Amino acid sequence: MTYLLALDQGTSSSRSIVFDAQGRTVAHAQLELPQMYPQPGWVEHDPLEIWRTQVSTAREALLKAGITAAQVSAIGITNQRETTVVWNRLTGAPIHHAIVWQDRRAEPTCVELRERGLAGTIQAKTGLLVDAYFSGTKLKWILDNVAGARGLADAGELAFGTVDCWLMWQLTKGKVHATDVSNASRTMLFNVHTNTWDADLLKELGIPASMMPKVQPSSSLFGEIHPDVLGHPVRIGGVAGDQQSALFGQACFKAGMVKNTYGTGCFMLMHTGSEFQTSGNGLITTSAAQVSLTPEFAIEGSVFVGGAVVQWLRDGLHAIKTSDEVQALAESVPDSGGVVVVPAFTGLGAPYWKPDARGTITGLTRGSTVAHIARAALESIAFQSAALLNAMGRDLSAANGAAVRELRVDGGASGNDFLMQFQADLLGIPVVRPETTETTALGAAYLAGLSTGVFHSCEQLSQLWQVERKFEPNLPSARVAERMLQWEHAVAQATH
Ligand code: G3P
Repeated sequence: MTYLLALDQGTSSSRSIVFDAQGRTVAHAQLELPQMYPQPGWVEHDPLEIWRTQVSTAREALLKAGITAAQVSAIGITNQRETTVVWNRLTGAPIHHAIVWQDRRAEPTCVELRERGLAGTIQAKTGLLVDAYFSGTKLKWILDNVAGARGLADAGELAFGTVDCWLMWQLTKGKVHATDVSNASRTMLFNVHTNTWDADLLKELGIPASMMPKVQPSSSLFGEIHPDVLGHPVRIGGVAGDQQSALFGQACFKAGMVKNTYGTGCFMLMHTGSEFQTSGNGLITTSAAQVSLTPEFAIEGSVFVGGAVVQWLRDGLHAIKTSDEVQALAESVPDSGGVVVVPAFTGLGAPYWKPDARGTITGLTRGSTVAHIARAALESIAFQSAALLNAMGRDLSAANGAAVRELRVDGGASGNDFLMQFQADLLGIPVVRPETTETTALGAAYLAGLSTGVFHSCEQLSQLWQVERKFEPNLPSARVAERMLQWEHAVAQATH
């Protein structure tokens, strides 16, 4: 029997999953990752905890699967993106905590870049909008603020990496300093057309090129893990940032194929093939997971508050005791009774880009109950995702006149049938839930299996990918238009 081991290092937990050669889950293990909030707007992780939790879950998953590392054909790594680690090449010790993607401390550098008129060049080269979200300005912050860092960096003694790169350094005991194109494309330092670090951008931010990892296609041989780690050397055959990995795990390999991951937030990505397309609707362009040296792209948008709105119902409103209760409460009323919840707790992202918007509930009457609010809260996840997909659809049709044919879904809240049906109703296209909703980890396993001969082609992967349930749209278009108008009206109130 052949197995693949996927390491999925996420923001809130480290997970490891063993898959068989059909892409079926055999065993998994998970450990929470402690979060640190040293100042308002700052979010950090301890890189050593990232490593410790990841390697523990890998050992546990193998144990649960009843196999040894010798039976694993290859390891695939997928990870929270943009999170920035800097360590000393000689000692392997991090010089600062990892600065997490949610961290806003680098905003002043972004303001400066925008004021210097660099936004257009940066978008043309990297596909990104200038934002503190991406790694480049976080890395600059570390060099500017950690005592002695700049000198060590100039002397070639420091290494930079996103989480995949840090894990690979640890797994190979310092032999491999590499990353893949999809992670590199989240740094704001990477030219996605040439698949190389951009010398001008590195210079603009004062980052020595010697710190940067080697960049490889997502499906390629990165090296072999040290035998001490899992008791046997295993090849690392695939690496991708978690959202691009999920796009791959959903077998979205062609232009116009879209996936949405319903987690705490939602991440929607549309493959655009080998065409670099900038969005006319406030979305970013990013490298998709690549199986060769040929660049491939995706357009991406995110919803800041997705499943988190259910946590708010539970912890803020005490409307439910456990998150699982939300579907029953929402379905205890026939509709939201005109109530609309806009969960703009931290502003609104694409396609609205209103950082100052705040949460709003509209349409309350004397007859409104907590069930109407719960239903409207769940619906808000679908409304926000619909606004994103509509924006992507406009980009797609502007590029080649095509239309999005279906939405593939994964992540925790994709298990909520009510939400998925409402999503299909709003979009007017089928919403498709695959058998394996662990698509992030599955994508990494697919990538690793492709480079090591476990799988032979993307066509084979498309066949392995199986539908569990298809939600067909079932709401008259006039009613959809009415509901979307109600939503947009509520958004306007939230952004006043
Ligand atoms: O861009 C951030 C994203 O990669 C984080 O994903 O699932 O770890 O919250 P997740």
